[in-house]
Amino acid sequence: MQAVILTEYGQPENLELKEVEKPNTNDDQVLIRIKAAGVNPVDTKIRAGTSGMCKKINLPVILGFDVSGIVEAVGKNVKEFNINDEVMGCIGFPGLGKAYAEYTAADPVHLAHKPSNISFEEAAAVPLAGLTAYQTIHDHLQVQPGHRILIQAAAGGVGHLAVQFAKIAGAEVSGTASQKNIPFLKELGVDQAIDYKNSNFEDHVASLDAAMDAMGGEVLYRTIKCVKKGGRVVCLPSSSKDDPVAIKLAEEQGIELVWPLMYPDQKQISQIADFMRQGQLKVRIGQTFPLKQIVQAHKQVESLHTTGKVVILI
Ligand SMILES: NC(=O)c1ccc[n+]([C@@H]2O[C@H](COP(=O)([O-])OP(=O)(O)OC[C@H]3O[C@@H](n4cnc5c(N)ncnc54)[C@H](OP(=O)(O)O)[C@@H]3O)[C@@H](O)[C@H]2O)c1
Repeated sequence: MQAVILTEYGQPENLELKEVEKPNTNDDQVLIRIKAAGVNPVDTKIRAGTSGMCKKINLPVILGFDVSGIVEAVGKNVKEFNINDEVMGCIGFPGLGKAYAEYTAADPVHLAHKPSNISFEEAAAVPLAGLTAYQTIHDHLQVQPGHRILIQAAAGGVGHLAVQFAKIAGAEVSGTASQKNIPFLKELGVDQAIDYKNSNFEDHVASLDAAMDAMGGEVLYRTIKCVKKGGRVVCLPSSSKDDPVAIKLAEEQGIELVWPLMYPDQKQISQIADFMRQGQLKVRIGQTFPLKQIVQAHKQVESLHTTGKVVILI
């Protein structure tokens, strides 16, 4: 099969399309013929060698966690899926997913049935960002009806899904994006769309119940100051984890600050698929690339200005 192989950490050009053996599956796994693979910022950080996950990886490897496709073989202990089922999921996270390929072996616990009303591209775009957004809104921020919350990078992969989960939960949502994405934020249902380049977001929000930061550093510090005592802030980039300035600010402000790591959850991925089946959750595909253009796909994600998600078509 064809797969993208990383033999050395570094530039996007280190990703090479090669012919490799089709993966073997054990009795507890399914073999997926991949139709699309989502590209996430964590993929680019692993490729660059800057992710904490690299410590447990032995090169060469196939990258990619988000996948959609058709089940081609089923291990004898697998009960939930059958041959020819259409599936989606975030596989092997944290660690190694092996989704940038024509086939992959997956544990059923990481998969959901793909809703028939969404495309393979949409199904591959949603799992990792969707689980992160869902866990941010429900587990970490514990958003309740009427809460006033701020979502940073609300047009991004995680942000645009977090906005929708927060609206479903009944929150009043403020979101930041540059001017070109303000109409998109309004389309998502953001109550207050803030152009972060032409104004300071803290001039628009104060005494919030909760906030999601997707940037770290200065943006995180300023975000913390917008949340009221007893409120919560989630900061997604693990590169800023345990930032002492942020921890001190959070203590002074009397807020709970969390750097979560997304965890796979079969019930949640199935619930996310259900939201899509019912038309309550929509994913925006910013750009698609064929597998052979994986280098361009990584460069797009590293631009930090993707609207929605980047997806590889296989
Ligand atoms: N901890 C975890 O488990 C976990 C899970 C998922 C993701 N993450 C991390 O979370 C971060 C965000 O992920 P993502 O997939 O959402 O990224 P993304 O899709 O690449 O985010 C791109 C978005 O960021 C916006 N943006 C850039 N600079 C901004 C700023 N200063 N203020 C507000 N918005 C800004 C851009 O909007 P404009 O183009 O309009 O500027 C763009 O829409 C990444 O660092 C990722 O690694 C962590």
